[in-house]
Amino acid sequence: MDKIIVTGGERLVGEVSVSGAKNSALPILASTLLSKGDQTLFNVPSLVDVKTILKLLQGLGAKVVSEQETCTVSFSSITHCEAPYDLVKTMRASILVLGPLVARFREARVSLPGGCAIGARPINLHLMGLEKMGADIRIEHGYVIVKAKKGLHGARIPLDIPTVTGTENLMMAAVLANGTTVIENAACEPEILDLAQFLVKRGARIRGAGTETITIEGVPRLDGGEYTIMPDRIEAGTFLIAGAITGGDLFVKQVPHHTLEALIGKLKESGIEVKGKDGGLHVRVLDKVKAVDIKTMPYPGFPTDMQAQMMSLMVLSSGLSVITEMIFENRFTHVSELKRMGADIKVQGNHAIVQGVKHLSGAPVMASDLRASACLILAGLAAEGETEISRIYHLDRGYERIEKKLSQLGAKICRVKDHP
Ligand code: EPU
Repeated sequence: MDKIIVTGGERLVGEVSVSGAKNSALPILASTLLSKGDQTLFNVPSLVDVKTILKLLQGLGAKVVSEQETCTVSFSSITHCEAPYDLVKTMRASILVLGPLVARFREARVSLPGGCAIGARPINLHLMGLEKMGADIRIEHGYVIVKAKKGLHGARIPLDIPTVTGTENLMMAAVLANGTTVIENAACEPEILDLAQFLVKRGARIRGAGTETITIEGVPRLDGGEYTIMPDRIEAGTFLIAGAITGGDLFVKQVPHHTLEALIGKLKESGIEVKGKDGGLHVRVLDKVKAVDIKTMPYPGFPTDMQAQMMSLMVLSSGLSVITEMIFENRFTHVSELKRMGADIKVQGNHAIVQGVKHLSGAPVMASDLRASACLILAGLAAEGETEISRIYHLDRGYERIEKKLSQLGAKICRVKDHP
């Protein structure tokens, strides 16, 4: 198994590009199940999660042609309606095929994702919405079996929690349903708007995506189409923190600023200079980084997917920071690893109380989820000596060539095989 070795202490300087957004590419690829025509996507990131969903789509009958960042998917017919355990257990987002499969095939058999390192992550709201649209749902042998013999119909779906993949699943299910669906308390993440824009390009009728109320008027069919996936705001945010934590001077290219306002606000509050320029963001540290409090919230609040990376910055700030995780019940697995590097953090329930320290020292650490891996790399960039991060398969699920991009900015970072 690969590991990453970082020798800290280098100031990062230069320009870096972000790849296409993982959490946009996954639902958009799942949505290709909804129509027969060729669907060509540009700016598709080269990530393990993207490979997993493509494998899943191929298993359902898709023809896939990929070349660099362009990927064409054709679904002239759906030959299977099952998302098997082997794939779902490696990637929870496989659940995103549920809505489109029921919409087009009127039937789906999808392995239940189960919990993961960051929390229990149930899918009850995805199922409640499909039920309201007329689907019949059974759980058997670890699979959810959904049937809609007469097809789905429009419904009013109030969500208790603004679930991101739940909103996406229901929006995809509703585009081919008979009648109008209204999703209330919908998630507002920019990736939902990206998916809606692709669906609308293919003939879907969707209003309000990106707000709390999404109205979808069902249409008989969708066409093929072309679409460019939005840049990854979480990758961009990770680079902003890489610049800040190393006292560097970085320009992160092609970042839609409005998608990162909560993070930018917090970076500025901690005394870091972040300026929009030519469609990107320029980050510079002029003074000592001050501690700030963080509370993760659904968009447009501070993203849970940036909590771990922000913690690495707070660990080296001057003062006391309280980081509150509101989305997932177990998203502090990076804390014990940061402490091995000398961080001063106490966890009380969903609060992490971080007392800034003057320096971290490199150590062998273990990544437990995708964003925790990024957090440990960031801490390693600022630590004295060598940090060895194992279990980095999580990293490859969501960051494209991160060690290459960081090296080009001056970081001393490399990937080695654990057992050569
Ligand atoms: N929830 C329920 N019932 C449901 C669905 C969700 O109780 O039916 C709860 C979850 O347990 C959680 C909260 O609602 O406590 C929010 O979860 P959500 O469903 O919004 O998360 P998700 O859709 O499974 C997506 C991203 C995550 C990101 C979260 C929150 C994708 C593929 N994944 O997950 O991304 O953290 O939204 O923004 O879009 C990552 O990229 O590292 C990642 C984990």
